[in-house]
Amino acid sequence: MAGRIPQNFINDLVARLDIVDVVESRMTLKKTGKNYSGLCPFHDEKTPSFSVSPDKQFFHCFGCQESGTALSFVMKFDRLDFVEAVEMLAAQLGLEVPREGGRGPTRASVDPDIFAVLGQAERFYRAQLRAHPEAIEYLKSRGLSGEVARDFGIGFAPDAWQALSEAYPQVTTKQWLDAGLMIKNDKGRTYDRFRQRVMFPIRDTRGRVIAFGGRSLGQEEGPKYLNSPETEVFHKGAELYGLYEARQALRRLESLIIVEGYMDVVALAQHGVANVVATLGTASGEAHFRKLFRYVDRVVCCFDGDQAGRSAAWKALENALGVLTEHKQISLVFLPDGEDPDTLVRKIGTVGFQAQIAAARPGLEYFFTHLSRGLDLEALDDRAKLAGLVRPYLERVQADVVRTLLEQRLAQLTGLQTPPTPAGGGYPTSEYRPPPSAPQPPSRRVDAAHQKLRQRLLLMFLQQPQNWAAIESRQRADTLASAAELGVLGEVLQVIDANPGADTEALLVYWSDSEHYEPLRRAALAHLDLGRDQWQQYCADGIGKILSFIREQNRKAAQAKLGDGSNIDELREYWRQRDD
Ligand code: UTP
Ligand code: MN
Repeated sequence: MAGRIPQNFINDLVARLDIVDVVESRMTLKKTGKNYSGLCPFHDEKTPSFSVSPDKQFFHCFGCQESGTALSFVMKFDRLDFVEAVEMLAAQLGLEVPREGGRGPTRASVDPDIFAVLGQAERFYRAQLRAHPEAIEYLKSRGLSGEVARDFGIGFAPDAWQALSEAYPQVTTKQWLDAGLMIKNDKGRTYDRFRQRVMFPIRDTRGRVIAFGGRSLGQEEGPKYLNSPETEVFHKGAELYGLYEARQALRRLESLIIVEGYMDVVALAQHGVANVVATLGTASGEAHFRKLFRYVDRVVCCFDGDQAGRSAAWKALENALGVLTEHKQISLVFLPDGEDPDTLVRKIGTVGFQAQIAAARPGLEYFFTHLSRGLDLEALDDRAKLAGLVRPYLERVQADVVRTLLEQRLAQLTGLQTPPTPAGGGYPTSEYRPPPSAPQPPSRRVDAAHQKLRQRLLLMFLQQPQNWAAIESRQRADTLASAAELGVLGEVLQVIDANPGADTEALLVYWSDSEHYEPLRRAALAHLDLGRDQWQQYCADGIGKILSFIREQNRKAAQAKLGDGSNIDELREYWRQRDD
């Protein structure tokens, strides 16, 4: 990746943007008093519950609870990642995006030509496909039409050792090596990585080729599939085959199906199922889910009907837990034994396949089925065992709603109550008990835990302000947008953000005249029973928890206040309250 974008440039960019302009250039807004409102672009609705505040430079939807800054609006609306959104907005303002040198991993920065080199290889392989009837025959034998081959840019690498460099003599050997297209052996000789293989170009979300997967025609030795190695522009753990193509094919993506193989993606596209992506010979990790949930609220895992496929499904569920929310859901399809999506759709057709997808099992439900396997939930011991199995997963869950659901389901299955209220967090007198059937009040336990989390974060960020820069930019932006709701912690984070590089001493100066000075100074000196090497991770996790907590609070507040969500006075009241 190119160097980091300096934080002060991002601050400056956000400061120059007017959220009303940004939103209005993409949808219709109506002025309603101080604010603007309109139909929310992020969920279907008939009465406007989407509101933009020019004063706060912030948007909020009372229906689906999306909210954020101009930058996060553009990311969500235009479906861009953070860097893409910054570049796009900067271009609109006629600004060039500066990059910091020498930060981050100490690799040489990306040669901008790497994309050009990969693009040339793609054209070469495509031309070679036309020149090799045996490769075309192979694709036909797998049921693919020329049209689908073209949509996916499928090509063919000929059976030769120097085909690329002969076709493009102006490209240097180093460039081919950097792009992952050539290999250097022990003797220093270089040769083409992909030979006699059907080539699947892997694209980033902008459509640029970043890598290839190559399938052997069958007879040769060597692995069935060969993938590009990790390069400057290709990180298997975060990329998905077919995502760009799915977005091209469908104007509106409702859900995405993850499968295991390249062939599954193209075979399903051939049958008119275009919302399909594949991981690249790796497990579906959290980064994959994060990416998919930028585009859709529903992800369906559809892995092969064999033992490997079933364990892949469980692994995927484990990896997704941290990013699931009340809006972002995953479900699992278990194919009949011995089938993969490619063979199955050819056997049962599009309608049959869609029926399998529609019958996917909700991930959270399967979570308990899987963990209870082999346990007898009538037996006390096994109930305890289940509780023990579930507990470590609860900690991974970021969204309070999801965690509460899992806790409730666990309580149902085991007859155990949700974890006991910690000392001091219980009800003030022993007389008062909530009526047994009444819903629990918005958990005090969470509040107490949350206070503690804030206090710890405050201490860590004060003592190691550099942890702030290590938080994902988008999360930083969202946290700052809610700083007012975070009390002193919010203030501290604003100051740290505005003063990159400032150390603890320099930060404390900001409060020298304030009532907060003494508590902050104590926090800055306090000792914590957690190794300093773990602080960065703790901060990152903690900010994630804080953000989901705020979202949930906002949702509850809005719901309590809002009736049907269409009353403009109430919208106004909501924004006014955010001032406090
Ligand atoms: P599969 O072997 O299930 O692939 O591997 P498939 O799609 O059914 O292959 P076909 O139908 O025989 O063509 C699934 C994925 O695992 C990776 C590839 O990404 C493949 O798409 N894989 C598999 C490899 O990287 N190398 C291999 O040798 C095999
Ligand atoms: Mn297959």
